[in-house]
Amino acid sequence: MPIDFATIRELTQDQALERTQAARAELGDRLTILGHHYQADEIVKLADITGDSLELSRRAAKVSSEYIVFCGVHFMAESADMLTAFHQKVILPDLAAGCSMADMATHEELESAIEYLESLGLSILPITYVNSSAAVKKVVGAHGGVVCTSTNAPKIVTWALGQTGKTVLFAPDQHLGRNTSFKLGVSLDQMPLWDPKIHDGGAGEDAYRNARVILWKGHCSVHTRMNKSDVDHWRATDPERKILVHPECTFEVTQSADLAGSTSFIISELAKAPAGSKWAVGTEVNLVKRMAALHPDKDIQPLSKIQCLCSTMFRIDPWHLCWVLENLVEGVVVNQIVVDEETRQFATQALDRMLELS
Ligand code: 13P
Ligand code: SF4
Repeated sequence: MPIDFATIRELTQDQALERTQAARAELGDRLTILGHHYQADEIVKLADITGDSLELSRRAAKVSSEYIVFCGVHFMAESADMLTAFHQKVILPDLAAGCSMADMATHEELESAIEYLESLGLSILPITYVNSSAAVKKVVGAHGGVVCTSTNAPKIVTWALGQTGKTVLFAPDQHLGRNTSFKLGVSLDQMPLWDPKIHDGGAGEDAYRNARVILWKGHCSVHTRMNKSDVDHWRATDPERKILVHPECTFEVTQSADLAGSTSFIISELAKAPAGSKWAVGTEVNLVKRMAALHPDKDIQPLSKIQCLCSTMFRIDPWHLCWVLENLVEGVVVNQIVVDEETRQFATQALDRMLELS
């Protein structure tokens, strides 16, 4: 009998966590729980494997358990489904855990952007950030393109820029695309924006013909909440404090920071920093707070005073986790993420290309 979420919702958080542990023990090695670094502490503590999206994709591909419960957002669970065997079931505890950035590019919009740009005589090489739907990855795979994550973006963009005669179209995060390409020597005037809401992208034919990288007009609503005045505040009040940010932050913020890099980079920089060092970190607040707790000998603060919380990641809570696990114990699979065969075929090409290149 399926268990109704309404009954689980009545539990206190401690009860939900206790029952989750019990269900987990009962499922044993039939279950693997994956947890993204931006998940809340109580979820991270329950995860068998934690990581950024690249690490989790890689690890998901090697897991042999029947059930993979993905504590992250929808596009990550789709990637896990594509990289795991057919008999394995990937489950997202709350289907409303999406990513607003991923929603900023649809596969229809991407198809028509490529079609328009190729009508100008360009040969487009699409790159999609892993924060995109499987349907978008399918379009990218079908056009010989590749997926990237914030960790491997420099490698992937370097490879793409080396493909003769190609113009790169980077979707959906303009900031990751701009920050990465600029660091690799592409000037700002060689990176026009493509606005998917305007039929011809909005920057003009010449700008696209002269482009090296065309940037999709998308962004992360969490990382773009941090701005230059946050950096200025720390510089004025505490000049010794190092500023470390994720490349989903704007160009202005990234340029004014001391260091910029992926979630994994942020974690490793903070781990190797000397005791007594001071940091202002521009990324999702759950991760910043966890780093501060993990390194009490260092002074680690969020870059912004505004709470930059990924509210969709936060939808994965102990109640939803308890609900999906107890259903699995009953033999009921709820919230399974299944990518259809045709999408999987092309999207997997783009994902595999990424894994080969990184
Ligand atoms: P990572 O690729 O660093 O895991 O980031 C995913 C993400 O959603 C960042 O906002
Ligand atoms: Fe998407 Fe931003 Fe949340 Fe990452 S932090 S999942 S990019 S909304």
